[in-house]
Amino acid sequence: MTLPAASTYRTLADSDDLWWRSAVIYQVYVRSFSDDNGDGTGDLAGVRSRLGYLKQLGVDALWFNPWYPSPLADGGYDVSDYRSIHPSFGTLGEAEALIQDALALGIRTIIDVVPNHVSDQHPWFQAALAAGPGSPERERFWFRPGRGPDGDEPPTRWPSNFAGDTWTRTVNPDGSPGEWYLHLFTPEQPDLNWTHPDVHREHEDILKFWFDRGVAGVRIDSAALLVKDANLPEVPLTPAPGEHPNTDRDELHDIYRSWRAIADSYEGTRVLVGEIWLPDVERFARYLRPDELHTAFNFDFLARPWNAAELHESIETTLSAHAPVGAPSTWVLSNHDVTRPVTRYGREDTTFAFASKRAGTPTDLALGLRRSRAAALITAALPGSLYIYQGDELGLPEVEDIPAELLQDPMHFRSLGIDPGRDGCRVPLPWSGTAPPFGFSPANASTSPWLPQPIGWRELTAEAQQSDPTSMLRLYQSALRIRAEEPDLGDGRFAWLSGAPDVLTFTRGDTFLLVANLSAHPVDLPDHQRVLLTSETLVNGMLPSDSTAWLEVLPSATENSDRPHHSA
Ligand code: NOJ
Repeated sequence: MTLPAASTYRTLADSDDLWWRSAVIYQVYVRSFSDDNGDGTGDLAGVRSRLGYLKQLGVDALWFNPWYPSPLADGGYDVSDYRSIHPSFGTLGEAEALIQDALALGIRTIIDVVPNHVSDQHPWFQAALAAGPGSPERERFWFRPGRGPDGDEPPTRWPSNFAGDTWTRTVNPDGSPGEWYLHLFTPEQPDLNWTHPDVHREHEDILKFWFDRGVAGVRIDSAALLVKDANLPEVPLTPAPGEHPNTDRDELHDIYRSWRAIADSYEGTRVLVGEIWLPDVERFARYLRPDELHTAFNFDFLARPWNAAELHESIETTLSAHAPVGAPSTWVLSNHDVTRPVTRYGREDTTFAFASKRAGTPTDLALGLRRSRAAALITAALPGSLYIYQGDELGLPEVEDIPAELLQDPMHFRSLGIDPGRDGCRVPLPWSGTAPPFGFSPANASTSPWLPQPIGWRELTAEAQQSDPTSMLRLYQSALRIRAEEPDLGDGRFAWLSGAPDVLTFTRGDTFLLVANLSAHPVDLPDHQRVLLTSETLVNGMLPSDSTAWLEVLPSATENSDRPHHSA
């Protein structure tokens, strides 16, 4: 296919410079979204064919998990070429066409960049292995001799987010044991050395490569991990802020300032979205200062249990942390790394923590679905941008019975099987029909989907849900339509109202009011002009347990708020 010159790529530049402050962003895990060519793996042609579905859902942007060539040792977060597309997904030309097709529907594209590490098959790492100790090629990574008399102890004992070791020893060309290299994740994901100018230059160039092709933003993987203390000290028991040897180091901010300058040099607002898991909200907010990242994922809310006081505290802490830097918050119920909300909220322990993930925990999926519906309306009404992970709009549960031999996630294997891993939230979507592959692959597909779909998903297909006005899909469609129409939703004013115990009540602007009943009993609704949407049917005018209502009220109803307003 012939490509237009970079300057002719269309963007939505003129329409709305502040789009990112309130956008609804749908996360596409390409491998599991839609398979056009029948090889059992989702692809870009599959996404293009479903753009109408995404438009109807009402999203403003798509975030694609890494779509680059990769050995898939970590689901694509092991990138071997940042300027191309995985051959199973399609071609660069198809990606460019997809970006443009989506834009024609008013939908922007955000891509994933992975700057902390590359694939061990990346040409830089292959060159470093071949060039040997002391070579300039090894300077782009963290190669070090081992400790101990024979060098057979790793240079540090840093823990890995994936359990297991963070250093792997190389073998010299003559077969003798060689240097070690650092990998905070799997050995197939060697960490880059961000003190090296090549590493900076390369990533700045990658950003330009994709911005030139019309992408509206980048999601930055493991954004708080790039910089390491070159002295390689051990991790202190309680590191002082900025003194952890591999997390949240102060030098990171200069990197993001230079990325921001690149983003700002393009027309339209190109956004930088950080994947930042940091418990210290003040440190988290520092990444969102006006000349750094635009937004970062707010993971606090998804880690909290289904409990009004906890969610109240999470919302309050989040808004208070963002206010001083003027950045909008993001709201995220799940992603490709965590347990699906329908499953999590259906358990006795509704918190999320990687270490507490357990397959086989008793789960009430009907309760989980009910709470997920209520949670969807809470997050969609909070100020800032909203992320929806593919399949959450269908209320898909975590798949917990994938046969062991089909599991792929290194988190599972590196935990020695204790962590069930993340495959259960990555199962291919059910689109239509009554039997697998449920329209994910064409009827004449040569292979089954790369992970098997439960037979029970026949009731959860997009097709079945579209014709059921009470379905999760229809709830999401209604919520996003109202969100788009209501000027008070998205970015803007927020205030709490005091309500009954275990009930969250807040207002947006002058006339929008949300009530979420997390108590065990139905509650009365406050005076209102109109019910805009509820996650469950009202019973005798009352809001049942585990449900949320969106109300239109008179401006006077929002006057007795009990907290200061947060405004953008
Ligand atoms: C965060 C990504 O979301 C996750 O899927 C990946 O395994 C790690 N970063 C490492 O890249």
